[in-house]
Amino acid sequence: MSNPVGDPKTPKTPETPETPETPKKLRRTDVFHPPSSIVDQANVKDYETLYARSIADREGFWAEEAQRLSWYEPWTKVLDASHRPFFKWFTGAKTNIVLNAIDRHLKTPNRNKLAIIWEGEPGDLRTFSYHALNREVSKVANVLKAMGARRGEIVTIYMPQIPELVISMLACAKIGAVHSVVYGGFSVEALADRIQDAKSRILLTADGGFRRGASTSLKEIANAAMARSPSIEVCITVRRTGTECFMESDRDFWWHDLMAMPIASPRCETEVMDAEDPLFILYTSGTTGKPKGLVHTHGGYSVYTATTHRMVFDIKPDDRWWCAADPGWITGHSYIAYGPLINGTTIMMYEGAPNHPYPNRWWQMIEKYGVNILYTSPTAIRGLMRFGNSWSAKHDLSCLRLLGSVGEPINPEAWRWYHEVIGQGRCPIMDTWWQTETGGFMISPLPIMPLRPGSAAKPFFSIEAAVVDDSGRDVAPGEEGKLVIKAPWPGMARTIHGDPDRYVETYWKDYGAQGWYKAGDSARIDEDGYFWIIGRIDDVIKVSGYRLGTAEIESALVSHPRVAEAAAIGLPHELKGNAIHTFVILRHGEEPSPELASVLKDHVSHEMGPIARPESLTFVDALPKTRSGKIMRRVLKARALGQDTGDLSTLEES
Ligand code: WT7
Repeated sequence: MSNPVGDPKTPKTPETPETPETPKKLRRTDVFHPPSSIVDQANVKDYETLYARSIADREGFWAEEAQRLSWYEPWTKVLDASHRPFFKWFTGAKTNIVLNAIDRHLKTPNRNKLAIIWEGEPGDLRTFSYHALNREVSKVANVLKAMGARRGEIVTIYMPQIPELVISMLACAKIGAVHSVVYGGFSVEALADRIQDAKSRILLTADGGFRRGASTSLKEIANAAMARSPSIEVCITVRRTGTECFMESDRDFWWHDLMAMPIASPRCETEVMDAEDPLFILYTSGTTGKPKGLVHTHGGYSVYTATTHRMVFDIKPDDRWWCAADPGWITGHSYIAYGPLINGTTIMMYEGAPNHPYPNRWWQMIEKYGVNILYTSPTAIRGLMRFGNSWSAKHDLSCLRLLGSVGEPINPEAWRWYHEVIGQGRCPIMDTWWQTETGGFMISPLPIMPLRPGSAAKPFFSIEAAVVDDSGRDVAPGEEGKLVIKAPWPGMARTIHGDPDRYVETYWKDYGAQGWYKAGDSARIDEDGYFWIIGRIDDVIKVSGYRLGTAEIESALVSHPRVAEAAAIGLPHELKGNAIHTFVILRHGEEPSPELASVLKDHVSHEMGPIARPESLTFVDALPKTRSGKIMRRVLKARALGQDTGDLSTLEES
């Protein structure tokens, strides 16, 4: 999949990391108080009062926040709840997220401020002021129009972490097209499925990207996916790595050729959209079947991402913000691109691996660019922690003020290392719980709050989060239950693309009588109202913070001609949080062997992407099933963990 490039003399990252200096064990009751320097200057100084107000007058709270943004025309209604659970926000308003993310900054001193600082893995640097970003976005918007892109059509974007990815998203939004970004680490099947579901006519991609000193062959994957996707008429490819790739005449264009043509004018009017018009689709894994395309809109999403970003990360005008996620996930959509750009923040982006060429790469960039806030995942933190403390010690990290974590529960050991070694005991950690579906932070500390390592603290303003049992009753403090959200919020996904019934069924059915949103996570609330997220309660596995469905992994396995049936489960893993373990029944006449196991693992990796490569693959003769033929994954899981398998009254092995 990759061919090495770069300087052969560059020494490799050590294969065996140093033994980390294990931090002291934390007790669940440990509390960290924020320094007064942070509390004194905080954007929000009193959580309780504002929270109470946001619950008492939800619409008033959000109207006030919405007034901070620009609108072409104001709303007539803040919240329209007449077609539950299809809530609408700021109805009647005219806007476009680009009006707030770019256009309005051009009339202020932000015009000359850096919007993006981007560093490529080989060390190349590109920066864009808001003025320059507007010109680039407008050029791409005009090219898309020339290619026939229309309001409402879904454009698929499959790129590495290069500025063109964010520029493409903004260009689609600017002309009213809906973007569907497919994570650049996904492979052929995942990309093809998403293109087909969206019926995209246009694909924006790149020849490849740099990762750990090698280049990935994105265009080859795109070519294979396009061969399975008849809807594609146009493919525009950014030249990033210079890798040879097949270009089909009439379909394939080089980005730089088009941008050099007169059609690529740097001036383009921003389309006036309804607040409720779709802005993007983002696919995420669920319990069953194919990934679902969650739909987010221009209006409510703009207000929600900007407000949560400003309040939770206490954004100041001269901050340099680094969300080290991939733009291909919701974290990147909401907090690399939209929220920060609406707030006029300078964002940092980096293309490659955190430990390339050495494990100090991130710390070096934080020092070099003066990053004030770092937002990343527990997996990344654990991955860097295993290289010990010496790598960050080489750098002056005094510019850091706040830290963030997202994607999975952060274990106290990683929390403490992040807090003490990276934040030097000075930087509060915002452990933000949210989902692709929620659009933005739902449960999170504020920088003024005492922190408990491993707890995402309290619900954001207006968010009525609760932990309940199956009948909807609050469980007692400290007890585990299901996490629900009892009232709508502006950043919520509006539906599943092409399948509104599945939207209702997945999120709104279990607590249909009460009208609550089911998050799919289990959690606890302690005596002081702090939330502790435990993990998914459905057939979703969080691997290194990435969300994968057991059904997708299983269908990748059974797509192999030698496999008859397959089951996938997640088991705890020290670095990744969870790892994928699979069980395979071979077709009649096939013989199990270690070679075949590795062929099948590679097959999953090839079909879905390297993140989905199973940790283990066990050949079995039968799988535990219910009488109706559903695989009982909980039985496989309990057996693998040596635990009690629970009620087996419906079990059959076949
Ligand atoms: C699932 C959503 C939202 C950005 C990235 C993930 C888990 C997310 C936390 C956290 C514990 C967390 C949950 C959630 N999760 N943040 N701070 N603590 N768990 O988005 O891919 O839609 O996954 O990620 O299980 O349901 P996503």
